[in-house]
Amino acid sequence: MVARIAALLLSGVAILHAQAQTAPLPADLVGTWNSKANSTCTGPDFYDPVNEKFTEPKHTGISYSFTADGFFEEAYYRAVANPQNPKCPKGMIQWQHGKFEKLTNGSLVLKPIKVDGRQLFSDPCSYKNAVYTRYNASELFKSYEVMIDPYHKIPRLNLYKWDGAPLMPLYAAMNPPKMLPTTTLNPLVTQTPATKNAKRGELPTVHEVLFKRTPGAVRADQWWWFGIFMTAGGSVLYYFF
Ligand SMILES: *[C@@H]1O[C@H](CO)[C@@H](O)[C@H](O)[C@H]1NC(C)=O
Ligand SMILES: *[C@@H]1O[C@H](CO)[C@@H](O)[C@H](O)[C@H]1NC(C)=O
Ligand SMILES: *[C@@H]1O[C@H](CO)[C@@H](O)[C@H](O)[C@H]1NC(C)=O
Repeated sequence: MVARIAALLLSGVAILHAQAQTAPLPADLVGTWNSKANSTCTGPDFYDPVNEKFTEPKHTGISYSFTADGFFEEAYYRAVANPQNPKCPKGMIQWQHGKFEKLTNGSLVLKPIKVDGRQLFSDPCSYKNAVYTRYNASELFKSYEVMIDPYHKIPRLNLYKWDGAPLMPLYAAMNPPKMLPTTTLNPLVTQTPATKNAKRGELPTVHEVLFKRTPGAVRADQWWWFGIFMTAGGSVLYYFF
């Protein structure tokens, strides 16, 4: 009995402790925040979960959306320079969403829904195909600040990474935020990769459709896609199986 009461007290202390770590959700974060080019943006125009497809933004950039009730969504489109061969940049498109918390010490913790995140990685000089996979990465932002940008005169969000390094500045783009549904979009499926039996697919005819699902491919942890990828230099590269 004493042990049980002690255990109850201890768990009570643990709960209090856990609650004390979390601060109220910050209202100043609510909205969609985009990097300067303002063409990479969260929401259905970036990632289409029904057709499993990314739409390539006009420019590289990043975007974060936050809701008043604790949900976030993020979109990344990055060209990764290749110092060995400047003509061979790698391309990376990432999307994820989930819940976020503000800690009492001012840090933000982003906890993605692990099965929902997606990444498209393209390294044309090393691999024949772009690689489409699940993606999840919990994030800790050590701190953040919302201010009025002195030059652009619009609200600006500065996020500082876990090590204190600043992310590129983000500017208020939309409020209410532009987001996909905040619930789980892709319930967990466990299947074997379908790379071996994937069939040749159709190439998309419009450039903004980045990748089409390979016909006949089953959902899996890793998909291989046909498609086109526009490099940072603007040339169109075709990848076939
Ligand atoms: C989440 O990411 C980790 C690290 O990359 C990986 O090991 C894990 O399998 C992923 N989870 C899901 C559900 O995709
Ligand atoms: C706040 O606490 C978290 C979790 O303990 C820690 O990772 C983070 O670095 C802390 N932030 C600051 C600003 O100290
Ligand atoms: C960014 O794009 C959104 C949607 O297209 C637009 O409403 C907003 O005004 C833009 N913001 C800036 C700073 O150009």
